[in-house]
Amino acid sequence: MRFNIATLSAAIIAATAVALYAKKLDRPPPPPRESPRVAAPAPAAAPVQVARATDETPDALPEGKGRDETFYLCTACHGTAIISQQGMPRERWDESFDWMIEKHRMPDPGAADRALIVDYLAQAFPPRQQRGRTNPFLNR
Ligand code: HEC
Repeated sequence: MRFNIATLSAAIIAATAVALYAKKLDRPPPPPRESPRVAAPAPAAAPVQVARATDETPDALPEGKGRDETFYLCTACHGTAIISQQGMPRERWDESFDWMIEKHRMPDPGAADRALIVDYLAQAFPPRQQRGRTNPFLNR
């Protein structure tokens, strides 16, 4: 291969790019985002709940079948307000359930309890328009 000015500049450009890229990789990753609203996730599969994230009792949630199961599963990490501020159709509650398991390592309670709890959430916290508390000035 002939070594001309073009190959030489190409080599210099490539070397510079590699050096810049290596420098970029040197930087430490950004620190994980902390959420001040919730306690650190409880270790998965803890046999006994020693401490809860809230002083609330199940009656912090509206009456309904599955209320106690929902309360004890969901308040291991956060209070009920973070749940009751939401209003969603059943599919979205179902997705939130997966999100809690995958992202926040909520212990999976099994299919039967899952159905009970998602049913409860869907009937207790449906989309806002169905809850009779709509603000006529907010077009949502
Ligand atoms: C293992 C810990 C853990 C458990 C158990 C848990 N969550 Fe969460 N949840 C979190 C964390 C952490 C956040 C905060 C996420 C954030 O701010 O990004 C959160 C946030 C939420 C939110 C708010 C989402 C938003 O957009 O602000 C909802 C709703 C929610 N959880 C519902 C539930 C329900 C329902 C259950 C029970 C079925 C549950 N969580 C159980 C850890 C948990």
